[in-house]
Amino acid sequence: MTAREALAEAERRLAAAGVETARVDAEWLVAHLLGTTRSGLAGRLEDEVDGLEPLLVRREAREPLAYVLGEWGFRRLMLKTDARALVPRPETETLVERALAVAEVFARPRILDVGVGSGAIALALKDERPDAQVTGVDVSADALALARENADRLGLEIELRLGDGVEAAAEGWDVVVANPPYVASLDELQPELHWEPGVALLGRGEHERLARAAQARFVVFEAGDGQATEVAAMLEGLGFAGVAVTKDLTGRDRVVEGRLP
Ligand SMILES: C[S@@+](CC[C@H](N)C(=O)[O-])C[C@H]1O[C@@H](n2cnc3c(N)ncnc32)[C@H](O)[C@@H]1O
Repeated sequence: MTAREALAEAERRLAAAGVETARVDAEWLVAHLLGTTRSGLAGRLEDEVDGLEPLLVRREAREPLAYVLGEWGFRRLMLKTDARALVPRPETETLVERALAVAEVFARPRILDVGVGSGAIALALKDERPDAQVTGVDVSADALALARENADRLGLEIELRLGDGVEAAAEGWDVVVANPPYVASLDELQPELHWEPGVALLGRGEHERLARAAQARFVVFEAGDGQATEVAAMLEGLGFAGVAVTKDLTGRDRVVEGRLP
């Protein structure tokens, strides 16, 4: 089958499976098989493509594209991605941006990433701020194993610990960052989320638990769509100063930061 035929077949079947981004996903899959990028496909449309079927079957079952491809881009990094941890999201790149900004006032900042998952935030911080001492903590041994693989693959030195992030946050840090679980229920959400670990998604009140415990000069949190105002008010209520909300790249209020006076 040529790449052109593979694209048409994949787009048709993914659309029939209810994938809203059928064409884009088809391009990702075929580009992956050819070892190129989506933009590189244009010159390769008559090339032969092998191995589409198993990938297509997985994506038709609504497994996240990042798991099917086995890797996913985040900031400047290419991370290994599989069902052991949440797929890194584009909005989380904004959290990294804000964490780097607040960390500017520190030499060799000590940064804790609570709920490190695949390692996305912690590794991006270390990559972009090499003098930082970055620690990631997670309750999931599976997620930590994936974060370790990513750290080793990328040659980035971070500390990884198994345990409760609230306890770790109380140890004293320059910056505590977290993208904690903040989804109330999976019922209404897209089918892809059911492939991701429940412990990474489902949670209530995690921002407040962390904010109450954190011994940190700054906290930077990601909040769910529609939750940022509440999280900001909670930080102000706990006495944090300079509380600010930053929009993600799609214009949604998603990242909340505050400073302990
Ligand atoms: C939304 S995911 C974020 C993963 C990663 N930081 C990212 O942004 O892609 C939340 C992570 O928090 C972890 N987690 C949940 N409760 C925790 C707790 N009490 N302490 C530490 N980690 C926790 C989950 O295992 C999961 O990896």
